[in-house]
Amino acid sequence: MTEKELCQAAMDMLERSYCPYSRFPVGAALECSDGTVFTGCNIENAAYGATVCAERTAIFKAVSEGRRDFVRIAVAGRSADYCVPCGTCRQVMLEFAPGLEVLCVNGAGDYEKYTLPQLLPHSFTL
Ligand code: THU
Repeated sequence: MTEKELCQAAMDMLERSYCPYSRFPVGAALECSDGTVFTGCNIENAAYGATVCAERTAIFKAVSEGRRDFVRIAVAGRSADYCVPCGTCRQVMLEFAPGLEVLCVNGAGDYEKYTLPQLLPHSFTL
């Protein structure tokens, strides 16, 4: 899959977002080393702290299916800014895939690419 296609897969997930509280849809598409893609969207809750971000939805779907060999993730929003992952999602990405490439997509479908050390310097691990 090309970078553009992975970004499109993340954008397609915006439709599935459940975000009645923030009205800020996010989609994610996570690619494994063999090309398998797990998608996710943000899923909110009336008890706000129970909300799960799009990236973690995709990562937890993949891990629960026995996969941890993540290569790239695309994260898409609808705003003009590139949709960058929150701190918690960065930490979860680091747990499974320190070499992950992160494609941050804006509402126009343009994207910027980051490494995890760029997004989460001086990170905590055990
Ligand atoms: N959100 C994500 O899905 N991913 C992020 O990395 C940042 C935030 C979601 C959570 C919430 O549903 C909405 O965006 C506003 O914070």
